[in-house]
Amino acid sequence: MRTFTKVLGVTTVAALALAGCGRSNDTGSTPSASGSAAASGFPADALIGVALPQKTSENWVLAEGLFKDGLAAAGFKSDVQFANGGVSEQQNQIQAMVTKGAKVIVVGAIDGSQLGTQLKAAKDAGATVIAYDRLVKNTDAVDYYVAYDNFKVGELQGQALLDGMAKKKANGPYNIELFAGSPDDANAQVFFDGAMKILKPKIDDGTLKVVSGQKDFNQVVTQGWKAENAQKRMDTLLAAHYTSAPLDGVLSPNDTLARAIITSVKAAGKPIPIVTGQDSEVESVKSIMAGEQYSTINKDTRNLVKETIAMVTALQKGQTPTVNDTKSYNNGVKVVPANLLPPVIVTKENAAEAYANDPNLAPLTK
Ligand code: BGC
Repeated sequence: MRTFTKVLGVTTVAALALAGCGRSNDTGSTPSASGSAAASGFPADALIGVALPQKTSENWVLAEGLFKDGLAAAGFKSDVQFANGGVSEQQNQIQAMVTKGAKVIVVGAIDGSQLGTQLKAAKDAGATVIAYDRLVKNTDAVDYYVAYDNFKVGELQGQALLDGMAKKKANGPYNIELFAGSPDDANAQVFFDGAMKILKPKIDDGTLKVVSGQKDFNQVVTQGWKAENAQKRMDTLLAAHYTSAPLDGVLSPNDTLARAIITSVKAAGKPIPIVTGQDSEVESVKSIMAGEQYSTINKDTRNLVKETIAMVTALQKGQTPTVNDTKSYNNGVKVVPANLLPPVIVTKENAAEAYANDPNLAPLTK
């Protein structure tokens, strides 16, 4: 499935729907109407459900507290749940939120394709569904999407990998390996596609050499976004392909996996290559300042939660929430109107500036 699909009309939209495309770059389609969303508002102290996935990275842990505090400050009751037990636990949690009468259900999906039944129940009960950070796929029971621009995240990671390697060694060829996130998370493919938009031309012209030959998304995924899975794959790659060849760079989709990759390289007694990341996790910011991990992405969770609560507040008042993208996120059934925030690339050079307003991270850059 190509990332860029020009949507020319209904037939193509239907074709995309069948193919279950995660992100399109269409120019001609209109977003589907959002059904009951923003109909006539709801009580100012209504219950808002927030279904979060597993704690696979720090951003999710931060989101929990921010949603609880932010929704309370806005006057709402909240039910914020993690589903550490997996997909069926998340399905049950969403169903329980519907039963309790939640007026909006915010969903950070574990598996974006497995919530159709529960979200349909939410819609049937008159709730509005907001996909948070991760797109919900293959259902029309989702009204809005709020996230950092995932494709841009990938592009920034790809460019950082090239820039970092060029700083160490002016000219290629460079030996690299590629890692992607968990295939059940709709974001994983989009991050990878964004990165490959930058890296593929350089692979094709010989500047980059993926020594293992593993270049397809399905070959490089990391199930469950689990550090141990990335570490194991890196161990295997190093043993099979890098006993004598140097490894110049590794595309890592996030910080947790970046640190696992670095751990593997260190254990093999190899010099640390340029490794990308995402999320601005505390340990990775420390690693960047220490000159180990090369880059991360700043996707300030405070802003993402704030934007989500602004959507909830608009819905409560019977208004239509603000969106700034009505073409990029085809979930296989509809184009979901999205509010996309801009991600920022961070290296040691701009860390102090990037985190100046973050009380947790700013001290680490001093
Ligand atoms: C988020 C990333 C995060 C990953 C693993 C993704 O959906 O967008 O920020 O690193 O999940 O938790």
